[in-house]
Amino acid sequence: MENLQILEVSEDVKWIGILDRDLVTFDIVMETKYGTSYNSYFIEAEKKAVIDTVKEAFWPEYKEKLLSLTDPATIDYIICNHTEPDHSGSLHHLLELAPNATVVGSGQAITYLGEMLGRPFKSQKVKDGDIIDLGNRNLKIIGAPNLHWPDTIYSYLEEEGLLFTCDSFGAHFADARMMDDLTGDYSEAFDYYFDVILKPYSKFMLKAIDRIKSLPIEMICPGHGPILRSSWKEKIDRTAKLAGQYLEDTKKDNRVLVAYISAYGFTRAMAVQVAEGLQKRGNITVDLLDIETISLGDLEEHVVRADGIIIGSPTINQNTLLPVYKLFSVINPIRDKGKPTTAFGSFGWSGEAVHLIEAHLMNLKLNVVSEGWSARFYPDSEETARLEKLVEEFVRVLQSET
Ligand code: FEO
Repeated sequence: MENLQILEVSEDVKWIGILDRDLVTFDIVMETKYGTSYNSYFIEAEKKAVIDTVKEAFWPEYKEKLLSLTDPATIDYIICNHTEPDHSGSLHHLLELAPNATVVGSGQAITYLGEMLGRPFKSQKVKDGDIIDLGNRNLKIIGAPNLHWPDTIYSYLEEEGLLFTCDSFGAHFADARMMDDLTGDYSEAFDYYFDVILKPYSKFMLKAIDRIKSLPIEMICPGHGPILRSSWKEKIDRTAKLAGQYLEDTKKDNRVLVAYISAYGFTRAMAVQVAEGLQKRGNITVDLLDIETISLGDLEEHVVRADGIIIGSPTINQNTLLPVYKLFSVINPIRDKGKPTTAFGSFGWSGEAVHLIEAHLMNLKLNVVSEGWSARFYPDSEETARLEKLVEEFVRVLQSET
């Protein structure tokens, strides 16, 4: 059976991960057409260590593999490079079989695990430069936070040049051959994984790459997808290029996204007035976008590039509409926090949409600069004068942001 396969990474290091070929979406939002793997590694040094575990649903197969290699009660360390449950889900089962093991992780990781496990366990908080002494082997800790949670670290088996990176340099790509020189080209899955999981943390990615670039590396052993024994350098370079490109694309250039939907053209006309008001003030690039049928991916591209976001929506049945909720779903409060924003829209009987949008934007940690602009059907001259003030205030905040 495929999931009982154990692979030799080196004489003393075994891959004991799981292939999840049937996964359709990861983290609910990410399509995984090639499935994925949850990679876990067993180090048979004088002191035994396990690096990361697997998603809980696969505990029975994972347990069987571990039992075929060792008596879990003799495991000394369980290293949690990252505590998202695709890697930590089996930890509580493993600790029942390995009660003597010390769980090693960053300060945040140990805190998160405390909440997840809900019971005491032996733990050791580590930071960049710490060494876990495995007797005849050293496992060095490399600080690599926010890849893709604040808790992340890398661990590096010095004597063998094996770097364990969890999500970094991973891909959702299930192939039982597991080694990058055997699986064939999976660059589409590699780029897509970076794009969806790691791209918002590009700044941290480049810092982590800086930390590992002088290490003698034999292989990179990620938490998902193929083990990089031949293409690790190429994958580091590719990741640095993608991260650099993202930072370049998102560099502040006074770009404002005016995203709108319009049932009968009133809100569209208001969107044009908003765009013209912005353009009049010069030095601003306006991205005027009807979002009724746009794909989520394209919508996110526009949001990522924008330094400010203005949303227009009519009020229908005292609410805004689905395309606006889709827009909310691609706003990332970590990435987009503090971007100036406001809302506008036409209404017939009542004008709840603008207030609803403002409240959502505030909860998403954007900077709502001023009360939005709404008009019954079409703005009269008084309402148009209010727009002038709103745009003026918006531009002032946009240009004062560093
Ligand atoms: Fe593969 Fe962020 O977990």
